[in-house]
Amino acid sequence: MHPLQCILQTQRWGPLASVSWLLLRTCRACSSVPSTACPSVEKQQEDGVRKDFSSRLASGPTFQHFLRGTSAPQEKPDMEDPPPYLTVDELLGKQRKVYLETYGCQMNVNDTEIAWSVLQKSGYLRTRNLQEADVILLVTCSIREKAEQTIWNRLHQLKALKTKRLRSRVPLRIGILGCMAERLKEEILNREKMVDILAGPDAYRDLPRLLAVADSGQQAANVLLSLDETYADVMPVQTSPSATSAFVSIMRGCDNMCSYCIVPFTRGRERSRPVASILEEVRKLSEQGLKEVTLLGQNVNSFRDSSEVQFNNAVSTNLSRGFSTNYKPKQGGLRFAHLLDQVSRVDPEMRIRFTSPHPKDFPDEVLQLIDERDNICKQIHLPAQSGSSRVLEAMRRGYSREAYMELIHHIRESIPGVSLSSDFIAGFCGETEEDHLQTVSLLREVQYNMGFLFAYSMRQTRAYHRLKDDVPEEVKSRRLEELITVFREEATKANMASVGCTQLVLVEGVSKRSASDLCGRNDGNLKVIFPDVEMEDVNNSEVRVRAQPGDYVLVKITSTSSQTLKGHVLCRTTLKDSSAYC
Ligand code: 5AD
Ligand code: SF4
Repeated sequence: MHPLQCILQTQRWGPLASVSWLLLRTCRACSSVPSTACPSVEKQQEDGVRKDFSSRLASGPTFQHFLRGTSAPQEKPDMEDPPPYLTVDELLGKQRKVYLETYGCQMNVNDTEIAWSVLQKSGYLRTRNLQEADVILLVTCSIREKAEQTIWNRLHQLKALKTKRLRSRVPLRIGILGCMAERLKEEILNREKMVDILAGPDAYRDLPRLLAVADSGQQAANVLLSLDETYADVMPVQTSPSATSAFVSIMRGCDNMCSYCIVPFTRGRERSRPVASILEEVRKLSEQGLKEVTLLGQNVNSFRDSSEVQFNNAVSTNLSRGFSTNYKPKQGGLRFAHLLDQVSRVDPEMRIRFTSPHPKDFPDEVLQLIDERDNICKQIHLPAQSGSSRVLEAMRRGYSREAYMELIHHIRESIPGVSLSSDFIAGFCGETEEDHLQTVSLLREVQYNMGFLFAYSMRQTRAYHRLKDDVPEEVKSRRLEELITVFREEATKANMASVGCTQLVLVEGVSKRSASDLCGRNDGNLKVIFPDVEMEDVNNSEVRVRAQPGDYVLVKITSTSSQTLKGHVLCRTTLKDSSAYC
């Protein structure tokens, strides 16, 4: 490690380190930093630039400068205001091509677009071709060990690419972004010397600076977590212009501290994006013609916009009955019901979904709104994790099996026809066969439409420090298989109830399986396949039309499996005009 700048900071969540290795080079041949326009810079730079850097450093950053960025709220690096040891010019991408690769959850997909938005503003170009990339950034996930192993393997492949790189090209830079950068910090830089930059989930604004530092041939890292970063002003770039749907990030981080989960350590404290900025983004997406928005966050329904003082006078909302939190009750702020109400009013033809919520934050206001508004999808993800109250307590989920089941019944009464999904973990610390059977019976009792099931993977969390990962791997796998089988059986039964019903489907495009079929999603987010034929348009009975991506159509369901519905199309319609269902 270069001893020059090392900032170690300790916050309530544990040690957070920001380590920057700052050494600059400028090109003597063309007096710019290396770029694709200047392939001969490599060797010449070394001496002259170090001298240049040393002289700038002498009159450059002070210790105070490095402290500035560590306090909350964080000061955001700005193109107009570069750090004193860099010039604006050195922060520019100069048309270098960035290849971004995303792993893990939908939050990471969104983060990828935020990172890209920042780099695009700095003058970088994007490439989908790995071979032509000048910068390769992996947006990583740490939730299970396997996710991290995938990244280590990928790094080995990229090492070969870096070694083989022609000297006539600008050096290839490789970066690790997101949760794994946050969790492992220096370990990545030490283990894989070919990694040039590390940026944690709250450090994407710093990417141009980190890459400028890496141009000196030094490693650069920013893994500071923030109390207030929501990237509210960084509009993610819509990658596929023909897309019908978009994800809109509304909050980041998690305060729940479930004992198995690494997320609070990698993504930090819970914070919400201001309502006004969310509405602005949703309006823009509506103007672009998008037909579906999914509100995104680690605990979307724990949303609390306290950005303005007067919001703290807002009426407080209750937790779901029988649920508790691991943290001190929070007061005030604009809550999720308010946001959902506002977002759903932007465009009545735009479907609204949200993921991922926590079962504790489903007050009646939210349930009523979902039931009343035509464009809020009647689909709720309600992660249970286990069907055993004993295991739920060890997981620190803040509810018992009974409280969870009561909530399920309440939701089903409040929103008739609601589609339910859940997450489960098989083989958590101390899980007995009896506990496992309780989960099996919960799956049977609820009969979810969709499910996400995982074998427990030990992470460095509270469970790691206090509990024993004592369920053998083969038992975990067997239990997981059993859960998957039961989930599929029950989902098939639940989906069978749709046969003979007419459902409103948002068309996404041609089916992957057959070019003569179209595919779309029903209100419950299940895939629906139907033949691509001419149909009537309810607003113009004189013409016959073929459905296009972004159209709403009514489909009569004729058959189902555990994951897909099939049917035939009746007509093209609008969300307002549709009277779907049985
Ligand atoms: N092992 C296995 N699954 C996990 N999840 C979270 N942490 C772990 C872990 N350590 C699952 C939970 C969560 C989903 C996103 O990932 O089910 O809801
Ligand atoms: Fe992890 Fe629990 Fe937070 Fe979900 S709610 S991200 S499982 S700590």
